[in-house]
Amino acid sequence: MEKLVIHGGNRLFGEVEISGAKNAAVAIIPATLLAQDVCRLENIPNISDVSCMVKILSQMGAEVKYINKHTIEINTKSVNSYIVPHEMTRQLRASYYLIGALLGRYNRAKVALPGGCNFGVRPMDLHIRGFELLGANAVVENAMINATADHLTGSPIYMDKVSVGATINIMLAAVKARGLTIIENAAKEPHIVDLANFLNAMGADVRGAGTDVIKIHGVQSLHGCTYSIIPDQIEAGTYMVAAAASGGDVIVKNVIPKHLESITAKMIECGVEITEYDDAVRVKSNGEFKRCNLKTMPHPGFPTDMQPQMAVLLSIAKGTSVVSEGVWDNRFKYLDQLIRMGANVQVDGTIAVIQGVPELTGAPVRADDLRAGAAMIIAGLAASGITEIEDIIYIDRGYEDYVEKLRNLGADIYRKEIKENNVGFNAG
Ligand code: UD1
Repeated sequence: MEKLVIHGGNRLFGEVEISGAKNAAVAIIPATLLAQDVCRLENIPNISDVSCMVKILSQMGAEVKYINKHTIEINTKSVNSYIVPHEMTRQLRASYYLIGALLGRYNRAKVALPGGCNFGVRPMDLHIRGFELLGANAVVENAMINATADHLTGSPIYMDKVSVGATINIMLAAVKARGLTIIENAAKEPHIVDLANFLNAMGADVRGAGTDVIKIHGVQSLHGCTYSIIPDQIEAGTYMVAAAASGGDVIVKNVIPKHLESITAKMIECGVEITEYDDAVRVKSNGEFKRCNLKTMPHPGFPTDMQPQMAVLLSIAKGTSVVSEGVWDNRFKYLDQLIRMGANVQVDGTIAVIQGVPELTGAPVRADDLRAGAAMIIAGLAASGITEIEDIIYIDRGYEDYVEKLRNLGADIYRKEIKENNVGFNAG
């Protein structure tokens, strides 16, 4: 096991290249099940969530060829099972996309309930209701979702709540259903559009992705294609906040600035200087920040997956900021770690009141989940002294080569092996 050690206080300077989007990749890889042909995927991020999803497909019988670090070819023709057991799904939240993809391919799916980041109850009722409206019988039994249909039929589906996962799962199941599916109140995240583009490149007929209403005309079959995944909005946002919190000057490259608008707007409100280019943003800061209020919402609102990182910036801003978490019920657990570093925070349900302090101080902390871990890194970079972060396995799930990327920007950060007999502060 490893931990991260950060000697804080270095300003970040230079350029950083953003990888392909995790949340697009983990939806597009299972979508290859629908084609039974060779799909060549480019700009795939080299992170453990992706290798986990690829491994699941190859364990199911798919032929997977790594062309290089960021390009894979997947042929799912020889997959011959619609069952995915717990051993395969437990590490990965996005394994639930296998339900929609297998249902679309076989009219059957039996997939163990997923693992992944834990920030409160993560229900799947909207996914199940969507499958049922398409004509499947879907039940949870023995911690598995078992969905079966004679055939799937397109249907109007109104989503009571905006859900990224349910929108994607319904899209996967509906592309080969008979007739027209209309998803209303659909999620609009950039990776929903990316998945729709990928499905269309395979011969699907999906329109309206990126708006509230997605229309899917079912097609009989899909074919292989070559597709390049969009840059990761959240990885980009994380480096933007890291650059700012360190008082640095960084060009974040290979991004789609439009996807970053809600993040950019908030950072500008905090006094950070941001310049947009065609496929890059420059972030410049003198290390002094103004307070602001923040509410996370589905896209195009401020992303919940950037809430912990932004909270770190607000913890060293002048004045009091109010952060409202509008997507998840329980996403402030990591603030206990930030408090260990000197932050002044009060939490009441889904609201955190952050009274800015002049500086954070290094401490031993842990990564409670992927984005919480990213926030701890940012805090460690901005803090004085040494920060040690445990449970970094969560961070490895979603950020490619982050230690190298940060070191290239001038950060003093490295991995250190935790010795077996070295009992961590959070053991037991
Ligand atoms: C995805 C992202 C996650 C991000 C989240 C919101 C992936 C792999 N994960 O998660 O990083 O934080 O979007 O942007 O892409 N809900 C229900 N019933 C359901 C499904 C969801 O009530 O059937 C609720 C959830 O409890 C939550 C809200 O809807 O309060 C949004 O969840 P959802 O958009 O589905 O998140 P995920 O797709 O799981």
